[in-house]
Amino acid sequence: MSSLTRIVPRSQQLVAEVLMPGDLAVDLTAGKGRDTLALAQAVGATGRVVAFDVQREALDKTAHLLIKNGFKPSFWENDREIPDLPGLYLIHSCHASLGKALHHAPKAVIANLGYLPGGDKRLITRSETTRQALEQSLERLTPGGRLSVTVYPSHPGGTSEGSIVCNLFSGLPPEDWQVLQISVANRPEAPYLMIAERQYSRT
Ligand SMILES: C[S@@+](CC[C@H](N)C(=O)[O-])C[C@H]1O[C@@H](n2cnc3c(N)ncnc32)[C@H](O)[C@@H]1O
Repeated sequence: MSSLTRIVPRSQQLVAEVLMPGDLAVDLTAGKGRDTLALAQAVGATGRVVAFDVQREALDKTAHLLIKNGFKPSFWENDREIPDLPGLYLIHSCHASLGKALHHAPKAVIANLGYLPGGDKRLITRSETTRQALEQSLERLTPGGRLSVTVYPSHPGGTSEGSIVCNLFSGLPPEDWQVLQISVANRPEAPYLMIAERQYSRT
């Protein structure tokens, strides 16, 4: 099948477009590590990636994938601030605690909501913590930076989580943010992408 409607690679591509070697990027849902790897490849050896997941198993998978691709991730305690040094920091915690660990401005934040494919479907992202994590991400994003969120309306709770994401993105002032939605027009149950880019101030 053609890749036209595959949303996840589109999300990775749209964040990679703004990332340069040395940048800081965040993955709010590490899962099997494919998004974290895409961020790590975009920021390179001089950059930083911070990845969250509530499942240790997911972070182990992410670490494995990163190591297989020549990176050296480290597991990081959530109550310790991420240092201003290159590295891949894996945090076993809810993404709503982003603000505790990260005091710098990321150039890109990616979130692939829902549950780990093939994993425990009860460990799914939830509307309230998703909202908190996305609000904190939007607050911190650097000018020119992007937040990209893949929403799964067919997952349990996915419709209401999607409404929260859509409300948040559609409420962003157009003079400060460009916002794009990509969805599969003939499959309303398919995952869709919301992406916001912070504009440089005009003054
Ligand atoms: C669809 S998967 C992510 C896929 C992943 N980005 C990849 O490239 O393989 C969703 C992940 O979100 C994680 N998750 C669920 N609730 C979370 C939360 N509150 N904070 C951080 N991660 C969460 C799940 O454990 C699961 O691994």
